Amino acid sequence: MKRNTYKEDELLEEPFDIKHIIRASSYIKKYSKAMAVALFLSALAGITGLVAPFITKQALDEAIPAKDTNQLYILVGLLLLAFIVSVIFSTVRSRVMARVSQKIIYDIRGDLFAHLQKLPFQYYDDRPHGKILIRVVNYVNSVSDMLSNGLINMILEIMNLIFIVIFMFMVDVKLSLVVMAGVPVLAVFMFWIKGRQRVSWQHVSNKNSNLNAYLQENIVGARITQIFAREDENAVIFRDLSEDCRDTWMQAVSYSNMIWPGIDTISVFVRAAIFLFGLLIFGQGNESLGTIVAVSSYASQFWQPIMNLGNIFNNFINNVANLERIFETMDEPVLIDDAPDAVPMSDLRAARERGEQSGEVVFDHVSFSYEKGKEILHDVSFTVKPGESIALVGPTGAGKSTIVSLISRFYNLDSGAIYIDGQDISKVTLESLRSQMGIMLQDSFIFSGSIADNIRYGRLNATDEEIRCASKTVCADDFIQGMPDGYGTVVKERGSTLSQGQKQLISFARTLLSDPAILVLDEATSSIDVRTEKALQAGLNAMLKGRTSFIIAHRLSTVTGCDKIMYIEGGGILEQGTHEELMRKKGAYYRLYTAQMEDVAS
Ligand SMILES: Nc1ncnc2c1ncn2[C@@H]1O[C@H](COP(=O)(O)OP(=O)(O)OP(=O)(O)O)[C@@H](O)[C@H]1O
Ligand SMILES: [Mg+2]
Repeated sequence: MKRNTYKEDELLEEPFDIKHIIRASSYIKKYSKAMAVALFLSALAGITGLVAPFITKQALDEAIPAKDTNQLYILVGLLLLAFIVSVIFSTVRSRVMARVSQKIIYDIRGDLFAHLQKLPFQYYDDRPHGKILIRVVNYVNSVSDMLSNGLINMILEIMNLIFIVIFMFMVDVKLSLVVMAGVPVLAVFMFWIKGRQRVSWQHVSNKNSNLNAYLQENIVGARITQIFAREDENAVIFRDLSEDCRDTWMQAVSYSNMIWPGIDTISVFVRAAIFLFGLLIFGQGNESLGTIVAVSSYASQFWQPIMNLGNIFNNFINNVANLERIFETMDEPVLIDDAPDAVPMSDLRAARERGEQSGEVVFDHVSFSYEKGKEILHDVSFTVKPGESIALVGPTGAGKSTIVSLISRFYNLDSGAIYIDGQDISKVTLESLRSQMGIMLQDSFIFSGSIADNIRYGRLNATDEEIRCASKTVCADDFIQGMPDGYGTVVKERGSTLSQGQKQLISFARTLLSDPAILVLDEATSSIDVRTEKALQAGLNAMLKGRTSFIIAHRLSTVTGCDKIMYIEGGGILEQGTHEELMRKKGAYYRLYTAQMEDVAS
């Protein structure tokens, strides 16, 4: 069992690179005003919060010893006021920032999705979909907080620290110096622990990604799991991956858990030192009881921003790794894109409507491979005249689907060229090319939504009447009408509530409705019973009239009427001609056809 493939960690080029932060700043620039407001509010909240020890000192040193109740009332009132003001400012700030952070998520996620949609088939062929999902959902969520609140908090904590130090020094310089003596000890401690934390959080992120990929694959493949009764084996693999997550998490958390006790210990020693020094110098100069209490109170506040800065920094390090993955996806080359000087392809539909001949397809010495060195098509050349229907037949894995996916330029060629009406398809815009093609893929995909929406997918402005007409052509109207809500019946993701044949008919109708200039049907009727297939043949023939079409079928009886049949095998066209010609030739096609007929007869 190749269990290790599930455990492949994503590689990061650099653990921490400031250039990602700089690039991310383009996402926060837009919100700099809101962020400045939030920063200002927080600063006010912070300062009001900091006057409390000052007021306490005043109460302890003056109001209480003098038994001055009036002053005490005022001081208590001030304390309360400072608290309320600070809470109001903090609440407003949280609201502003929650909105900014959501907007940043919205922007990044939107860009990421837009880019993902442009990525070539190859990108999706090559990687687990769960790992793509986690980038769009989890990573974006986690970086948004760093970009919004993280940045503001960092500035605030630094300001906070400065203010605390100023206030503390204002109260008493000598005692403040005692507090500062703890700083180098803290610095050494933090430096040691952060290095370990960074590595351990990267491990957590990798293991989560692996778990996600496996989970996603298994949700999609749940049926197969049950068919082969593989639950136990899968559970073992899952537990294994889950264990990795748990272990790395525990390791990372164990470092995080050391921080507080560490800082507390240092803080306790510092406080003890304040009391000791305070006692020694008590009564000399300004050192009153209030002074000692106030400094010790600032001292305990002093560690908080340092701690927070440590956490923010830590968060930065984790999230820069996530940012890198997000940007890596955004930088993923759109291998199949418009050439710089691409022009729109001529309008084949309009030409046909004008009665001109259009839709000639030429393969000119085309060679193609999905992976380097494994050629699937070798030097294939053929010409399809405008309006001709071409059947592609041949053994499984011969390259039939590959040929038709090249016509829409889903992959780039290794060599050679494909021309439609004399225009090299690599030199026209993808949009103009693909919007004229109607391709029904071998595995019909149904989106969640109503049946009507599914059929309308490729032509959003189609009327209900047109939808019905397309459905009638493929004999789907009857069964759709028979469903609880007819065309409004909602189907679940991947059309799980429909039969295979029903799914095929719906995607068939979808392809026809888009009124393509060039029609490609890849095993369009393989799951449909022979009677329905025969019935829809008539409608289909009418559709095919004057339209260049490629029909791939294993059931040869459906393609005997095509203008030309190409038998694909061994990376090229082995035989081509009309059904009659190929039968007379008594070659590969003849053998395949007679074998099928014998099966039917027996
Ligand atoms: N995305 C892909 N990445 C790598 N190799 C691929 C990919 N898709 C297909 N292949 C390989 O290319 C070859 C041709 O595949 P293709 O799907 O064109 O066959 P086909 O003639 O349509 O077969 P079938 O009749 O089973 O649909 C196969 O050997 C297959 O293994
Ligand atoms: Mg195929």
